[in-house]
Formats: sequence, C-alpha cells, structure tokens
Amino acid sequence: MNPPKSRCTFAIISHPDAGKTTMTEKLLWFGGVVREAGMVKSKSGDYAKSDWMELEKQRGISITSSVMSFEYNDRALHLLDTPGHKDFSEDTYRTLTAVESVLMMIDSAKGVEAQTIKLMDVCRMRDTPIVTFMNKFDRESMDPFALLDNVESILKIQCIPMTWPVGNGVDFKGVYDFKTKKILSFKDSKDPFTPSYIDASDIDSPSLKAEIGAPLQEKLKEDLEMVATLIPEFSMEEYQAGIQSPVFFGSALKNFGVKECLDLITAIAPTPRPRDAVLAPYDSSAKTITIDPSDEEFTGFIFKIQANMDAKHRDRISFMRVCSGRFARNEKIYHVRSGKEIRIATPLMFQARDREIAEEAMAGDIIGLYDTGKYQIGDTFSMGKKLIRYTGIPSFSPELFMRVLAKDPMKAKHLEKGLAQLSEEGATQLFIRRSTNEKMLGAVGALQFEVVKYRLEDEYSVVATYEPITMAGVRWLKFPDKTTEGKFIQDYSSVIMEDKEKRICFAVRTEWDLRLAMEKNPDVKFFKNSDYIE
Ligand code: G4P
Repeated sequence: MNPPKSRCTFAIISHPDAGKTTMTEKLLWFGGVVREAGMVKSKSGDYAKSDWMELEKQRGISITSSVMSFEYNDRALHLLDTPGHKDFSEDTYRTLTAVESVLMMIDSAKGVEAQTIKLMDVCRMRDTPIVTFMNKFDRESMDPFALLDNVESILKIQCIPMTWPVGNGVDFKGVYDFKTKKILSFKDSKDPFTPSYIDASDIDSPSLKAEIGAPLQEKLKEDLEMVATLIPEFSMEEYQAGIQSPVFFGSALKNFGVKECLDLITAIAPTPRPRDAVLAPYDSSAKTITIDPSDEEFTGFIFKIQANMDAKHRDRISFMRVCSGRFARNEKIYHVRSGKEIRIATPLMFQARDREIAEEAMAGDIIGLYDTGKYQIGDTFSMGKKLIRYTGIPSFSPELFMRVLAKDPMKAKHLEKGLAQLSEEGATQLFIRRSTNEKMLGAVGALQFEVVKYRLEDEYSVVATYEPITMAGVRWLKFPDKTTEGKFIQDYSSVIMEDKEKRICFAVRTEWDLRLAMEKNPDVKFFKNSDYIE
C-alpha cells in the first residue's frame, strides 16, 4: 500500500475582485478537478462552482467559505475559500483555525485594499504562514518595488520575491526566476506544462535585448541589482512564523506564474501542526494540553457549518477538521458536548461542487458531516470518550445589534428555531438579556443581518421586523469566585446577557459605561471574545 500523502490544508484570501475565484479555478485545474476554464465562475457570474447560496449569486459576493480537495505534487491539498467581504470576518477567522497556511491574492494595479488589511489582521492573530501572488500582471500594474513596499508597509510582512516581473500590461514579457536565471515567457508559454524560457543568465546579452527590448533589459538589470542589495534571503523559519512571505508575480486569468506558486506551496507549506485543547471540566480551571497530529487516537473539531449547499435537499453540512489519528467511516466517534457516541455513515470529501463518500480521513483532512442540527461550531469529536475540547474557535464581540420580532405572532416558535440554528451555524450571534428574556442578534457586519433576514424568510417562512439596538458591543466575563460573580450580576442585572452557550456577558451600552464597570470591579475580567483570549 502507498504511504498516505502529506496533507496541505490552506486557505485563499483576497479583497473582492483581486482574482480569488480565478486563482481557485486554476489551482483546481492543476489538481485535475476541473478540466476547463470557466467552470468555477462563468463570465456572467451567474454560475459559480464554489459559491452555493442563492444570495451569494445575487450579490456577487462569496459569503460562506467552502472546501475543495485535490492532489498535486504528491500532496493531498485542501483549499478553503474565505468570504471576501469584511462583514464575514468571523467566518474567515474560523476558516483560518482549520488551515496551516494561506495564499494571499493582490491586484497588482491596486496594491493592498481594505479587506486584505482585515484578513491579514486575522492571519496575524494565528501567525499563519502566507504565500503572496501579485495578480493581473497582464494588465497595467504598479512597479514591483512599489507593490512590495505597499504590502510590507501596510500589512507589516516581509516580502521575499521568488520571481520578478519583466514589464506589465501590453509589455509584459514574463517573470524572471532568481534560481534558474531564466525568464518564463508570457507570450510563448502556451500552457503551464509546456513553458518557454528566455535565457537571462547574461543580463547584458544581445539575445536578451532582442527578446525583451533594451528599456526592459536595462530596467531588469537595475531591478535585480536592487533586489540583491535590498531584499534578504528567503528563510523557511521566518515563513513558518508568518514573518516572511514568498511572493510571485503573474496572471491567474492567463494561468501564468500559477504553477510556480503552487509548486512552492506544495514544497514548503506546513503539514498539520499540534493544537491546543482543554481537558474537561471546561471552566477556568481547565487544564490545557497539546494534541499532536501523529497521536493515534482520532480527534477533530467543527469549524464551519454550511446550510443549503444543495438547494433541493435543504441540507446542512458541518465541516470537521481532523486534528489527530485516523477517522474511519462507520466507526463510533464521541461527540464531546452531547456526550453521545455517533457513527458517521456518510462522511463527505469535496471536490469543487462534487462530493464523495470518504472511507477514512487523517490529520489535516477536512470532512463534511450531514447535520440535522446536532452540531455547533467549535464542537470537538474524539475516540474512547476522551473529554477534550479544542480551543481557539471563539466568537467575537459584535458591533451591531438587532431586536427581531415575528410579524405574525403565530410564527414566534419558527423564529426561535431559526435564530437558534442560524446562531449555531455562526451566521449571527444570539444573546438573551437575563432580566427580561429579550433576544437580540449581534453581528460584526450588516450583511450578516441580510443573510439572516433572507434565510428566515426562505427557510423558516418567517417575516420579521428588525429594530436596531444602540449598543457598543459585549464582553465575556470571568470572575475570581462565585461571590464576586453573584454580586456583579446583581449590581449590573439590566446589562447581563447570556450567549448561545449560556456564557455570561456584559452588554456594553457605551464605552464610558464599560470603563466605569471595569474600574469598579478590578477582579472581574472583561474579554472581547468568547475564548477569553486577552
Ligand atoms: P474574486 O474572486 O477575488 O472576487 O475575483 P475574480 O476571480 O472573480 O476576478 C475578478 C475579475 O478579475 C474577473 O473579471 C476576472 O476575470 C478578472 N481577473 C482575475 N485574474 C485576472 C488576471 O490575472 N488578469 C486579468 N486581466 N483579469 C483577471 P470578470 O469576471 O470579467 O469580471 P469583471 O472584469 O467584469 O469585473
């Protein structure tokens, strides 16, 4: 039997329109998953293999992330799509908890854009290693030094070019490879597997001048001298620590420079890493342990729940990242939160829109579980009833709040069910004010409410009214002892809320209120996330 292929689980991030979908399509092409260009996203944008929801299609945005698995260069890759829109940054964060590295796309005419900054902040929270692709060099682009400087100064990551562009737009000749001292020819390379090169080992040679013209030859010479003096060597350690990012230049649309980028990803992207978990009980006394991917016992956690992947079936799929051991179809696994053993008969693996039954999965793999509402984001699975819970999949303090009421009181129960399910899926956060039992929704971005509204009407047949609530956020609370907890809850009863897991939160009416409460109660800790990360 062949040894299992090493796993490479990575996500693709970009500002909308930088070329994420186009790049995804090309990566899948290398993996043999799509055979023709245009299968992921058609020109009109009305059919997208990786975009499932109707609303996504209508809005032309990718809201939820999806998983695509393929093999290339003897590695088993799982590519996780992330929503490009800032309103879904929580979803992106959760996706990044399931990957070991990231591919970042930059539109070379525009440089770093707003959403890339947000996404990068999320990557930095986990020191995720990043490979960068400067896209659209077949169009007029910024000067490569200006681009690198733009990324370095805004995203605070050191850029190490692996290739160097020769011209751009109509003058784009190709990319110079620092190792081989050859230029991969843009005009003559018909497809990535039959590349054509221009020899550039002698930068002053007349033959190079004949190929790229005197001005570009002069510019390349100057650029390479500058690179040699200004840019440090690539360091594997610094890449793995998220400090350095190897950079490629090319065109996803023309499938140019993509193979080189994917070759590097498969060569250097980390294999599954050890992860932190806590042992039950999961209170403040919980002991943290580290679980190694090579541990024999299977463990995994749910990082994403996606509804309506198939509109005909209205199904809900929970995505599980396998963290250690081996998962086998039909073998009993332990769902830690409910304390029940479950046999998964139809675990799924994904290839773009197609799904297959997975007979087994190992650390690094992502599998889909059909879900009738049993699972929640962050749920841990183990073998042998091991009482552990993976940490690092928190909710963040929302910035926007709404009171939701069913227009038809007869639909109140439907509304309740809908809101509970949507918050389990992470589409929104649900809070209950303890003193009044009032339910309120929290979101990081306004589009999340639009998704909730759309789905409540479409899936639960509930038309509701939405009243904005003026609130600055919530803070999750930790108390040193039960007496302090009881007193605090009594003193602040009108602003005490519970999240969906009944964790106690403080409703922040104004920053001033919050500061006052913190000053008065120095023993109580206030956290902006539900994992109590400082
Ligand atoms: P996204 O998922 O990051 O939002 O970007 P997407 O791949 O959909 O690409 C956005 C547009 O940019 C698409 O044009 C796509 O064809 C184009 N594009 C992507 N990569 C390249 C590239 O390397 N070179 C050039 N020239 N264009 C590229 P579209 O679907 O026609 O939409 P639009 O151009 O009408 O906006």
